[in-house]
Amino acid sequence: MNNIHFDENNTNYFKLDFADERVDGADKVTGKAKYTAEYNLPNMAYAVFVTSTIAKGTIKNIDTAKAMASPGVLDVIYYANCPSVPGYIKNEWRGHKVLYDNQVKFFGQPIALIVADSLENANAAIRLVRAEYESQAFETNFDLARKDASKLKGTVVYKRGTENKFKEAPVFIEAEYTIPAEVHLPMEMHATIAFWEGEDKVTLYDKTQGPKSTQSTVARTFGLSDKNVRVIAENVGGGFGSGLRSWANVPAAVMASKKLNRPVKLVLTRPQMFTLVGYRPQSWQKIGIGADASGRFVGITHEAISGTSRYEDFREGIVNVSKFLYASDNVDTKYSMLPLDMSTPVWMRGPGEATGSYGLESAIDELSYKLKMDPIALRLKNFTTVNPENKLPFSDINLKDCYAYGKDKIGWKNRPTVPGSLKENGWLIGYGMANGVFGAGKGAATVRALLNQDGKLTLECAVSDMGPGTTTSMTKIAATAMQMPIEKVKFKLGDSDLPPGPSQGGSGTTSTVGSAVDLACSTLKQNLKDLAIKYAPAFASLKSDALEVKNEMVLAVADPTIKIAIVDLLQLSPDKKIDMTIASSGKTAEQLKFTSNSFSSHYVKVAVHPKDGTIKILQVVTTGDAGKIISPKTARSQMIGGVVGGIGMALTEQLEMDHQSGQIINASFGAYKVPLHSQIPPTDVWFVDKPDVNMNSIGAKGIGEIALIGFAAAVTNAVYNATGKRVRDLPITPAKLGFKAKV
Ligand code: MOS
Repeated sequence: MNNIHFDENNTNYFKLDFADERVDGADKVTGKAKYTAEYNLPNMAYAVFVTSTIAKGTIKNIDTAKAMASPGVLDVIYYANCPSVPGYIKNEWRGHKVLYDNQVKFFGQPIALIVADSLENANAAIRLVRAEYESQAFETNFDLARKDASKLKGTVVYKRGTENKFKEAPVFIEAEYTIPAEVHLPMEMHATIAFWEGEDKVTLYDKTQGPKSTQSTVARTFGLSDKNVRVIAENVGGGFGSGLRSWANVPAAVMASKKLNRPVKLVLTRPQMFTLVGYRPQSWQKIGIGADASGRFVGITHEAISGTSRYEDFREGIVNVSKFLYASDNVDTKYSMLPLDMSTPVWMRGPGEATGSYGLESAIDELSYKLKMDPIALRLKNFTTVNPENKLPFSDINLKDCYAYGKDKIGWKNRPTVPGSLKENGWLIGYGMANGVFGAGKGAATVRALLNQDGKLTLECAVSDMGPGTTTSMTKIAATAMQMPIEKVKFKLGDSDLPPGPSQGGSGTTSTVGSAVDLACSTLKQNLKDLAIKYAPAFASLKSDALEVKNEMVLAVADPTIKIAIVDLLQLSPDKKIDMTIASSGKTAEQLKFTSNSFSSHYVKVAVHPKDGTIKILQVVTTGDAGKIISPKTARSQMIGGVVGGIGMALTEQLEMDHQSGQIINASFGAYKVPLHSQIPPTDVWFVDKPDVNMNSIGAKGIGEIALIGFAAAVTNAVYNATGKRVRDLPITPAKLGFKAKV
């Protein structure tokens, strides 16, 4: 097998050829690449939100007079003077209707928009706006509210076999797992610049993971046709899901630009990134899992509740992973939402599965100790190549290879079978592992391929690249398919005017857009062969299947001396170039005979200090089973990003609410803890790197989600192995391990 491996010292990293550099890397690190908030347009005005200081209630009055009189202020838009938004009235806008009425639904909700001639003047006027409220009782306490079943909504149940069958197993565990709300916090703030180019035509620079989806949202919200809305997101500085829908900044900037008849820039502040662009909802899970003496699962019962807002439903697929990753005849699940007086959550890296896998992979670990069985052996015992939920075979599954590699590389043989029994240098040492899984989709996408007179190839698709390296991997797919130098290929994305592509989400971009690029290139090669037969005399008597395209030439397979350079061939053709637009579809009937997933398996070695409970992650091995790896370097970066996110989830991240006021109290990078660089250990990244030929023509599946999914459980399991203390409430802290807080 042709695996890809990056060892912890990165020695392989330097062996990669230059062609694997990010094609946009130089532009990004030199500042040449522009992000939404960096554009400046002539006569542009600057907008800032004034936000509510209550969690729920009615605004009795907003006094805007002082703000309006403040230097440079052009307008203060609020419910009393908010322009009519057709989509608000027709409920075409899904989210909170910003500036629309006098209702407050969550603390920090925008209640007014100040527009001024400079950002400084806009900011200076914020404190001059005075709002009077009539507060109402509110509820932000998830832990308390979830215990009242009457407050839950949208309950969905699933059952195969017998409910609660696990209780009949000779060995079973039942436990509850909880995760606080977590925030995406991409480097780049959400931002919108809107300008109307006519009465019914608007252009936006917007931080979005989906230029096409934002285009259609704006069109529906403002009663415009899609073609009259252009959304540009050429570079996106991270997203993790927060950019998968439009938030208050979008309609606010669009309406202000229309009202003032000039471009308006609205950039959220870092604190507003905690309240206005979604979050991973807080969750509670209960898992029961039982096995026979050999370790075979008898039944799995998985219940979950996650938070949503009062004004919108946001569902998480928390329990789904329990239905299909392992063989079990008896599985029952139940999921409900709990509405709270908070803003609406949204998908965040590994949405649903990241939460559910923490529960399931912890529970399996707990069961392994009760069975006195190795946790990898227990997973192997319940390994299945057929998805037990839909009964379809997995298009490919190589978790066994991941186990073999991970076990060896982390030093699993040193793992103590009795928790808390191994010490190194005075620290308690533990080893843990856990799996991740996420659906591997393939959707429709359209790609324009333009092969120019000079032999350079430009491909275009409206998809975005929020950072994983889509521009690089698409360029590589095209260069590989055409067998031409990567420097001569350019992939343009991030503009809704380009041919339609998907939003970048759900780990689907490489599969979906990559398949379309591959199809465009094979069509292009066919066109070149046809042109050669038609216009190049040396090929006149040949059939197209006797020709091949490589090294910027068309050649006869049987006699490579019969050849013509593509640039020369184009000169012979009437159009002198090839310009075509190719649409690829979702999965074919053949591909739909399988169920497709990407898999990961994470290995962690931790040290816990026996005196104060300090947790250090000493070593990480992370393995991915995601088909062919298109761009090893960016793929490695994705996996490391998942490890960092997973360490944050396991040890540091927690959105904290003050339930007296309903306010988030750690809405800053100073107070909301993401892992420090020093907390990230040497990370060994390994990929199976085997094309999943049943999945799509390129054999590649996504890795964005599986990089994170399961990781927090690997850490929890390692901490248990080190200490004998099972933490079922993230993040793991010394206090939860029974140590007094440090002073
Ligand atoms: Mo991801 S949560 O699909 O951006």
